Amino acid sequence: MTAEDAAASGEGPTPLVMRGISKSFGGVVALRDADFVLRRGEIHGLVGENGAGKSTLMKIIAGLHAQYQGGMMIDGREVHFRSAREALAAGIGMVHQELSVVPDLTVAENVYLGKQPTRAGMVDWRSMFAGARAHLASLGIDVDPRARMGSLAIGLQQLIELARVLFSGARIIILDEPTSALSPPEVHRLFEVLRAVRASGRSIIFISHFLDDVLAIADTVTIFRNGRRIVTEDAAKIDKGWVIERMIGSGHEDLEESYTGAIALDSKPGAPVILAVRGLCAGRAFADISLDVRAGEVLGVYGFMGCGQIELARALFGKLKSTAGTLTSDGKVLRLRNTADARRAGVAFVPESRRSMLFYQEPVYKNMSISVLGRIARLWLKPATERDIARRHVEALSIRPPTVEALLQSLSGGNQQKVALAKWLTWPPRMLVLSEPTRGMDVSAKEDVVKIVRGLRDRGLGIVVMSTEPETVLSLADRIVVMKKGRIVREFAGETVSKDRLLEAA
Ligand SMILES: Nc1ncnc2c1ncn2[C@@H]1O[C@H](COP(=O)(O)OP(=O)(O)OP(=O)(O)O)[C@@H](O)[C@H]1O
Ligand SMILES: [Mg+2]
Repeated sequence: MTAEDAAASGEGPTPLVMRGISKSFGGVVALRDADFVLRRGEIHGLVGENGAGKSTLMKIIAGLHAQYQGGMMIDGREVHFRSAREALAAGIGMVHQELSVVPDLTVAENVYLGKQPTRAGMVDWRSMFAGARAHLASLGIDVDPRARMGSLAIGLQQLIELARVLFSGARIIILDEPTSALSPPEVHRLFEVLRAVRASGRSIIFISHFLDDVLAIADTVTIFRNGRRIVTEDAAKIDKGWVIERMIGSGHEDLEESYTGAIALDSKPGAPVILAVRGLCAGRAFADISLDVRAGEVLGVYGFMGCGQIELARALFGKLKSTAGTLTSDGKVLRLRNTADARRAGVAFVPESRRSMLFYQEPVYKNMSISVLGRIARLWLKPATERDIARRHVEALSIRPPTVEALLQSLSGGNQQKVALAKWLTWPPRMLVLSEPTRGMDVSAKEDVVKIVRGLRDRGLGIVVMSTEPETVLSLADRIVVMKKGRIVREFAGETVSKDRLLEAA
């Protein structure tokens, strides 16, 4: 038997075995006596609540945390990586939860990151562009290798980052939340790539809060809770309810039901219009958008990545200039030349990328007050009040760890997202535009967000939720418009709607 046959038949030493892994950050225990085994040629789904320790475990494998207790074996050999370089050399590749591409470099440079082909000591651009194009095409990714990375849609950037990891020759591939920014067709393509990678005998760890995705692609599923492995099971033997119960306990069927079953929309056609949008256009981003935002109603805007909804959100917040059409509020035409105009008109915005509005080196409580108050108003607020307000949010949103003093960078991804949302809850605006409000959140965190958004709606706010995730729109919206190629193609109001019907319309 050749080495390839052995790999394909799943024989040979186990690619990864971890035993008794413990890791703390100051007083916070991230992993306690955790174990994990990855077999050859398998896709291993890893799930657990926000803060369960998934990313920390993966960063240990990828050499990013050198300080930890416990043992790790790669292909039967004891290892303890001191750096990412050592892990890379041992065949570990990781796509991080937070995108880590270099936006100012070309696609090809990102694919070849750190290993550009040279000729007579110079970067060989010609072979780099050709090589990147061929590699990406082999993965079904059709993109110009000369394009600047930052100019591409996030979903595409995520796929290219995966391409880079595959290109590096990694045999153990870690994907931390790879589908969060992908549209359904992109997820489909990603899965095809992953199946091909599996067929070549490489192993994949797939982390996601989209349990449907995990159950669809994984051979094996491991559940983490409070820094420990709770259980590992064949994916074919389990279903979503089983997974959720072990992740967070029972009693969360309602939300999950809204993901799979049909939702009766509770639209409020008679409610006062806070903002009337008519014939709004913005260059090539979107065209002829007309919709009403009503008091006490959540309007969902659904569409695939790149359908123009992100640009529409920006236009509603004065961040993107519209080229035609009108916005009317209380019978007055609004001219939103900048975000200050929008804020004066009572519009608040929570963007999809939390990086742009959070301060990672600052404690949680400051992150909850800074943008709400603006620099000047902050001076009026006593530090004690600032902390008190933050403490209430931390409690209401079940933010972990439950302290307002923790630095933002020490929170898990899902908890950072809650902080981003909390900023706008202190003095609710008239209208709130949320872009991807539950991205990266676990089931119970999503429930917290649903509760908060409904609470604000019931206080009379007009809320617009933009998302590429059907689940997010279905769990939050009272009325839904579907966007496609920059236009509204469908509206669902006062009727029953399901994930399938949304996907069909998009
Ligand atoms: N650099 C850090 N400094 C301090 N604490 C940290 C750091 N990284 C992680 N933690 C803490 O370790 C725990 C586990 O976090 P981790 O990021 O591994 O969770 P996760 O399972 O990946 O969650 P999510 O689904 O939200 O991404 C959390 O309590 C987190 O706050
Ligand atoms: Mg994580």
